[in-house]
Amino acid sequence: MFGDTLDPAILSNEIALDETLDAHDPLRHLRGDEGVEHHADSRSIVPIQPPSVHNEVIRLSFPNDSDKGCAAAIQITLKMDASPGCGGIAWPAGDVLANYLTIRGEAYCKGRTILELGSGTGLVGLVAAILGGNVWITDQAPLLDIMRANVRLNHLESSVVVSELNWGEALSSEIPRPDIILAADCVYFEPAFPLLVDTLSELATARTEILFCYKKRRKADKRFFTLLKKHFSWKEIEDDPSSARYNQEAISLLTLKRK
Ligand SMILES: C[S@@+](CC[C@H](N)C(=O)[O-])C[C@H]1O[C@@H](n2cnc3c(N)ncnc32)[C@H](O)[C@@H]1O
Repeated sequence: MFGDTLDPAILSNEIALDETLDAHDPLRHLRGDEGVEHHADSRSIVPIQPPSVHNEVIRLSFPNDSDKGCAAAIQITLKMDASPGCGGIAWPAGDVLANYLTIRGEAYCKGRTILELGSGTGLVGLVAAILGGNVWITDQAPLLDIMRANVRLNHLESSVVVSELNWGEALSSEIPRPDIILAADCVYFEPAFPLLVDTLSELATARTEILFCYKKRRKADKRFFTLLKKHFSWKEIEDDPSSARYNQEAISLLTLKRK
């Protein structure tokens, strides 16, 4: 799945090159697709966003399949601002995960404790809350203000808690052990790979459902899955009718299970 057929010597040279480039520019993988074929798709509801986004507010609409087409579409108002970090804009994997939640619908989210890691703007968690979840959106400190603004803009104060959660650090006592963990586009910076696996391991039990949307950007991502394999098994989601489209953009939607 992740380049297993490649000559190991070539692979390790490419990983070494990636590591050198990462040391100079840790976020370079978020700016381009670096050899991964990209297909622009007019059906994507998250527009292409320049890294220079500052204080923009967009409106997003997701179908609401909860009532088999009878319910109103889910409308989200989203403030975006790239200045606090890459999470301040909405990334395509978040769009994919938010959209998939609408397919699972209220039957999946309602009344359940749902925690999102690396929420950025909070988009995915906000959709989970509209579908009835008791949601925690979490990220590093610089992103908290934009998440709080988006909770207010969507009038979700009663069902969404915004909390700082730095991967790899001890979880604060206020963080619940959730029924569902969500993560979109959280695999991009190699030093954070073990931290993210540690946090997932600390939060999840064998009963926790984890939806993990991932965009493959480089061969070194394989290291994340090597670490993940020690504690989790995973498989691709099979019931998303959009999967062929986002798979073409190197995006995969996985369910993870704690071993
Ligand atoms: C590419 S953005 C994705 C944001 C959002 N999930 C989306 O799909 O639009 C990655 C997010 O992970 C967060 N992140 C990165 N390293 C982190 C860490 N060590 N602890 C917590 N969050 C982290 C970033 O702040 C950022 O919001």
